[in-house]
Amino acid sequence: MNDQAANLRRLVEDKNTYPEPPAIRETEVNIKQQAESIGPRTIAITSGKGGVGKTNLTVNLAIALGNMGKRVIIIDADMGMANVDILLGTSSRVTLMNLLDPDVTLEDVLLRGPYGVSYISGGSGMEHAGELSAMEREMLFSKLEACADWADIILVDTGAGIGKNVLDFIVSADEVLLVTTPEPTSLTDAYAVMKGYSRITENPNLKLIVNRVIDEPEIREVVGTLSRTAEKFLKLSVECLGYIYDDKMMVKSVRSQVPVMSGYPEALSARCIASIANGLVNGRQEKVKLGWRGFLRRLFKK
Ligand SMILES: Nc1ncnc2c1ncn2[C@@H]1O[C@H](COP(=O)(O)OP(=O)(O)OP(=O)(O)O)[C@@H](O)[C@H]1O
Ligand SMILES: [Mg+2]
Repeated sequence: MNDQAANLRRLVEDKNTYPEPPAIRETEVNIKQQAESIGPRTIAITSGKGGVGKTNLTVNLAIALGNMGKRVIIIDADMGMANVDILLGTSSRVTLMNLLDPDVTLEDVLLRGPYGVSYISGGSGMEHAGELSAMEREMLFSKLEACADWADIILVDTGAGIGKNVLDFIVSADEVLLVTTPEPTSLTDAYAVMKGYSRITENPNLKLIVNRVIDEPEIREVVGTLSRTAEKFLKLSVECLGYIYDDKMMVKSVRSQVPVMSGYPEALSARCIASIANGLVNGRQEKVKLGWRGFLRRLFKK
């Protein structure tokens, strides 16, 4: 692990050297700048360490946003894992890469899953998006562009870590939700993502989601440590969009393949995710600079 990450580990261990972190920001005024947007908001959900809850957040967030009247498409960009499928209790045979077949249309790969969730499986080929020929990119771009007619928000569930393909997704998106748990290993890996992201993005827009928290002091500690470290070493401003309590109902919902938001909407984790959805829709929103078309352009037409 690099120097800054080592520093982070030290900071995590030496938390008493810091003053009280600022309170987690609640919903702020909605300055409704969506009117000028170029297609749907594109939000990448990522993490440094694997298994911290990205896919569960993505699926349940999509349901929560759907409950708020938003049309959401999930892009399962976690190569070859098809985790979105598993959590929804479905299985898809077609993937985004099938769009390279001239006879395959967007409607063929845009799957209408249960609970009102629409999603596209990325498939293993997506990691090679950067190696596609100009013609292939153009074909994917022009077909995927039409997602703009079907969605207000596109959630991209990425793989974990700082591999090039993950970074490609997160720098292409307008907004990044970085999921971490309070575990030191998850925090150091989250910091590595912040570092990679801050180096290559021109307009950083990254918010933290702290998953599997036990209590409020723990949330403040995690957010305070990560945001101060990012500010100090990376000059990256990071705020927390929300947190999700460690909740056995979440585990139960995974086992029964019924998303917690649908099966147990009163569960603690479901209420936390509903609050995150509310923060995304009604919270302070930066102007959408790229939108879905900008995302595709960056991903396929570099
Ligand atoms: N808030 C929570 N409370 C309790 N358990 C949770 C919570 N969030 C996630 N989990 C557990 O963590 C497991 C992994 O979650 P998930 O598959 O969403 O992680 P991921 O970050 O998408 O993993 P990967 O990096 O492999 O894609 C879940 O199966 C569930 O058991
Ligand atoms: Mg996942």
